[in-house]
Amino acid sequence: MAKKELRKKFMNNFQNNIEQSVSFIKKQTTLLPKIAVVLGSGLGDFAENLSHKKIIDTHDIPNYPLSTVEGHKGKLIFGKQNSVSLLAFQGRVHFYESGNIEKTLYPIHVAHLLGIKTLLVTNAAGGINKNFSAGDLMLIADQINLTFQNPLFANTLLSAEKINIRATSHPFYDNSLCSIAEKIALQEKIKLQKGVYVGVTGPTYETASEIQMFKKMGADAVGMSTVNEVALANYYGMKVVGFSCITNLATGISPTKLSHEEVTETGNRVKKIFAKLISTFIQELSNKKK
Ligand code: HPA
Repeated sequence: MAKKELRKKFMNNFQNNIEQSVSFIKKQTTLLPKIAVVLGSGLGDFAENLSHKKIIDTHDIPNYPLSTVEGHKGKLIFGKQNSVSLLAFQGRVHFYESGNIEKTLYPIHVAHLLGIKTLLVTNAAGGINKNFSAGDLMLIADQINLTFQNPLFANTLLSAEKINIRATSHPFYDNSLCSIAEKIALQEKIKLQKGVYVGVTGPTYETASEIQMFKKMGADAVGMSTVNEVALANYYGMKVVGFSCITNLATGISPTKLSHEEVTETGNRVKKIFAKLISTFIQELSNKKK
């Protein structure tokens, strides 16, 4: 089969898979959220407080990629915060789990087909900026993608014809949403740092020299997720806002050896305040729309 034909076949299968997932999901709930929240490592608690919850285990969704990382529950939670319908993705599949970027991007394709227009992303990250401490929250002002992946050249739902170098709009992180986040952090007296997130593949933590390089590049925090998801969401025209939980200081900045336990421990320590930031943010967003 010619290369073009093969690609077409692959694209058709991919499209069918996602449509199957979406049609299964749509049968589980009558809620039609326009806002989705991606909850990172150990930060899944926010969704527990929603009302009218419908929890879908990702194992039950046909074709949905499964996470293998501890602390990543793999659930889609539909629910309401007051009158606002929301979809929360609890747990994500990291690129390092399979080396297949499509698995990481799958929820974003699903969110798009479900009609999501605003995406709130969260993650755990290592602090590079010397003013950051473990436990700080950071509003993501911009990102550097060092995964050497790009959702627009991966075999996505997007057809080759549609893709061109002007396909994305800038900035990736919506200025007005960032302003809302900063305003509510002030109001609620939540310490909110702001900075550039650099996304790497992992799964190993960085060397001290790599961290110094990222610092020179202008990065304030480093993590193993988010950047490709946000690039795709941006392509789909979603408005994006992102928050990192600085779970540890990055290699060489921290005097101690990094561990996944430290990441989850800090996540646990700040998850309440993180949930408050997200819920107040969503409330403010819906007040603005009224
Ligand atoms: N590096 C990369 N990813 C991370 C870190 C880190 O220090 N902390 C949490 N996720």
